[in-house]
Amino acid sequence: MERFAGKAVLITGAATGIGRATALAFAREGASVMIGDVDARADETVALIVGEGGNAAFRHTDVRKAADLDALVAACVDRYGRMDAAFNNAGVLPPQRPIHEVTEAELDLAIDVDFKGVFFAMQAEIRHFLKVGGGTIVNTASVGALIADPNMSAYCAMKHAVSGLTKAAAVEYAQLNIRVNAIAPGFVVTPMTQHWADSNEFTQMFYAQNISGRAARPEEIAPTVLHLCSDGGSFINGATFTIDGGQTAH
Ligand SMILES: NC(=O)c1ccc[n+]([C@@H]2O[C@H](COP(=O)([O-])OP(=O)(O)OC[C@H]3O[C@@H](n4cnc5c(N)ncnc54)[C@H](O)[C@@H]3O)[C@@H](O)[C@H]2O)c1
Repeated sequence: MERFAGKAVLITGAATGIGRATALAFAREGASVMIGDVDARADETVALIVGEGGNAAFRHTDVRKAADLDALVAACVDRYGRMDAAFNNAGVLPPQRPIHEVTEAELDLAIDVDFKGVFFAMQAEIRHFLKVGGGTIVNTASVGALIADPNMSAYCAMKHAVSGLTKAAAVEYAQLNIRVNAIAPGFVVTPMTQHWADSNEFTQMFYAQNISGRAARPEEIAPTVLHLCSDGGSFINGATFTIDGGQTAH
């Protein structure tokens, strides 16, 4: 099934992890993919897609800079003649410490990448969607948008903000044929969380609490993003979609 044949999708943070898996999944369903990232490993994502016969390109993009996101949208439209959907996925996990030890630089990084990066991306994407009559956006939040874990205060607050921003945008643009949703993944093994996966102490504690008893693979997150961007997701708007193996149900 090629739900995205002839369509173009913009993805931030697709050098590795969830973004790369989702870029591959979109391309396998026919989408041309424009990737924005600060990490040159995005070239490897492009090579994987092209190696499978798909279309993809990478433009160096720092989501902390609104002008970079404007340029990324323009690059997608220049190259593929369109932009139908966007996955705002770039994020960072600042060093984990209690609130009284968080530095201003660590707080600023979380605000700039995890919140303002999504805000700037949505602004650029929405301006384009308003011109062409609509489109879909998915933002990457986290179970940290729903619950709090110790020593992740800034990340948790910014992911709550992404969920709120998603609702705000859905409300503002629903009548203009723009749908905006978020995903809330639980523990997914990626470069961001490899240190958790490598720690027996952490995994034993986490898996004991989590009814699935394991972490997710990035490929288990991608299908929900595609569904939310597809016609099958046509009545899903403003939602933060939990993909956590039951972690927050327990
Ligand atoms: N791995 C998990 O357990 C988990 C759980 C919930 C949510 N998330 C979220 O999923 C998203 C993807 O993370 P991941 O786990 O795949 O980790 P990852 O480190 O593999 O991916 C993060 C991506 O964002 C990019 N990025 C970071 N700063 C950027 C910037 N300033 N400009 C542009 N790109 C930038 C990185 O280069 C990378 O490609 C993040 O938003 C993260 O917060 C991850």
